[in-house]
Amino acid sequence: MTTFIKNRYIPTIIFGIFFFIISCADITTEQVINEEVTTEVVDNHPNKDSELALLMRKMYNDADSIKQLIVNDEGNISKEYIEALERIHTATPTDADVKTPEFKAYTELMINEANTLFSNPENKKEGFNNLVNKCVECHQSFCPGPIKKINKLRIN
Ligand code: HEC
Repeated sequence: MTTFIKNRYIPTIIFGIFFFIISCADITTEQVINEEVTTEVVDNHPNKDSELALLMRKMYNDADSIKQLIVNDEGNISKEYIEALERIHTATPTDADVKTPEFKAYTELMINEANTLFSNPENKKEGFNNLVNKCVECHQSFCPGPIKKINKLRIN
């Protein structure tokens, strides 16, 4: 009788121990993952935003203001804005590897488009949307994250 009980419970006990080990293992993995994430965030924090990222953010906000000027027929892109675009050539990016000849070419194409917009005030809406396309083209190769946001700049 005693043997019978033992035999009946052994699988349950083994199963229980097995499960206990599995769940501990799971917790350990999760903790390790969490620790990695935390370390990454902390590591990235001191060098926060690169010069290029800050410049891009300013370019985005200023483009949004230019869009309003064009929509309300109150103004156009300025020489100051085009000068800001030229600073892309020298601004330090988060990832130094982005500064390739291709990156330089995209920057020049965008500056050309900005100059076209500046010198064709009778076709501002189309010119502005062409400029936004140049932002998106470079982003497709180098930084896809903000594309959705950049597309919102378009004048419909
Ligand atoms: C020549 C390539 C290129 C062009 C052209 C370009 N971008 Fe960027 N953009 C980048 C790269 C690379 C980053 C990532 C910057 C970094 O992290 O150092 C970036 C980042 C951004 C960001 C995110 C900034 C942040 O908060 O971290 C925004 C928004 C942005 N760009 C908007 C624009 C707009 C608007 C235009 C057009 C007026 C534009 N970009 C044109 C390459 C480009």
